[in-house]
Amino acid sequence: MTAVISGTGLWRPSDSITNDELVASFNAYVERYNAEHAADIAAGVLEPLQPSSAEFIVKASGIKHRYVLDKKGSLDVERMVPRIPERPNEQLSLMAEVSVTAAKQALEQAGRDAQDVDAVICSCSSLQRPYPALAIEVQNALGAGGFGYDMNVACSSATFAIQNATDIVRAGHARSVLVVNPELTTGHLNFRDRETHFIFGDAAVAILIENAEVAPKGAWKILGTKLQTRFSNNIRNNFGFLNRGDEQFRDMPDKLITQQGRKVFKEVVPMVSEIVLQQLAELKLKPSDLRRMWLHQANSNMNRLIAERVLGHEASQDEAPTVLDEYGNTAGAGSIIAFHLHSSDLKSGDRGLICSFGAGYSVGAIFVQKT
Ligand code: COA
Repeated sequence: MTAVISGTGLWRPSDSITNDELVASFNAYVERYNAEHAADIAAGVLEPLQPSSAEFIVKASGIKHRYVLDKKGSLDVERMVPRIPERPNEQLSLMAEVSVTAAKQALEQAGRDAQDVDAVICSCSSLQRPYPALAIEVQNALGAGGFGYDMNVACSSATFAIQNATDIVRAGHARSVLVVNPELTTGHLNFRDRETHFIFGDAAVAILIENAEVAPKGAWKILGTKLQTRFSNNIRNNFGFLNRGDEQFRDMPDKLITQQGRKVFKEVVPMVSEIVLQQLAELKLKPSDLRRMWLHQANSNMNRLIAERVLGHEASQDEAPTVLDEYGNTAGAGSIIAFHLHSSDLKSGDRGLICSFGAGYSVGAIFVQKT
């Protein structure tokens, strides 16, 4: 049985932050911190904090701008945390709400009603709550049937869920599987950390995976998928339900995302390019058979190297489009945003690769062909 991607959808917040705005807030915080701790810094007891710079951010990552849930709270030096009012249980939760918005677009693109969906997978790098599953809430809000469950594979959440959905369709357990990937990353971002404050943005995507027999023309046939994980502490978030058992460490910065960016860069570039090349060979495809690569959107220098290792030449924007300059790193959503925004111009028969990578480490590669 053949599985296809028959629709995608994207939600993004209306608030946005430029690098200059982000750096101004961070540097005001640094100035205040250093003034407040001037005596300890002068005595050599404490290191002064260093300012951030917009030039560094663009050069090191390619990020110029990001969409965020709450600009005011995130930039307010008194707070530096997005303000996200809690909702009563009777109201649709925030992550379900943004998922539903993206899902409706994906369904519309595929010409489907929610009643046609017989499974929902919600997969993202940080879930709003452990249970009931967000996927079940989305299923209920849409009026879909079947079953739903949540999963988390950090930045590879969407591609890993695409393989799950593909397997479900191929096994005949469902005809139409909706994957939603709500990435409200500023909730786990430390706006006071110079190393990471510029990295993330918020977005949600949805992908409809269907049995080719019921899918519309122009859907993307899934030629093959490859997932791989290798344990690393270099990207880590220690937030969890056991934190409350140790008050001393409960609110420490490691309960937000932390990473050793340089190590991640060095270790992940070869891992991803090797997996992609191996899988191409497995599928009896040449790198030149890839019309386009929709890569994970974390770092433009990283993507340039990966694309070059795979294709054998420097990739053009047309071959490997970038969205991180505008969206920042949207965790699992990045490669799907690139696919959603930059795939409608391809022709029947064109092949491409959706590829994510991130914490775990994890790599997810989905090879597709337009029908
Ligand atoms: N502003 C100005 N300077 C900064 C800075 C900031 N915000 N943050 C760090 N620096 C400084 C460092 O202190 C360092 O100074 P030094 O050379 O005097 O020691 C220098 O800039 C280089 O820092 P480094 O952390 O090595 O930068 P980098 O070139 O590796 O870029 C990342 C940092 C995070 C952009 C980059 O490593 C990256 O994107 N890695 C991959 C991350 C990734 O893909 N993660 C997956 C998540 S899904």
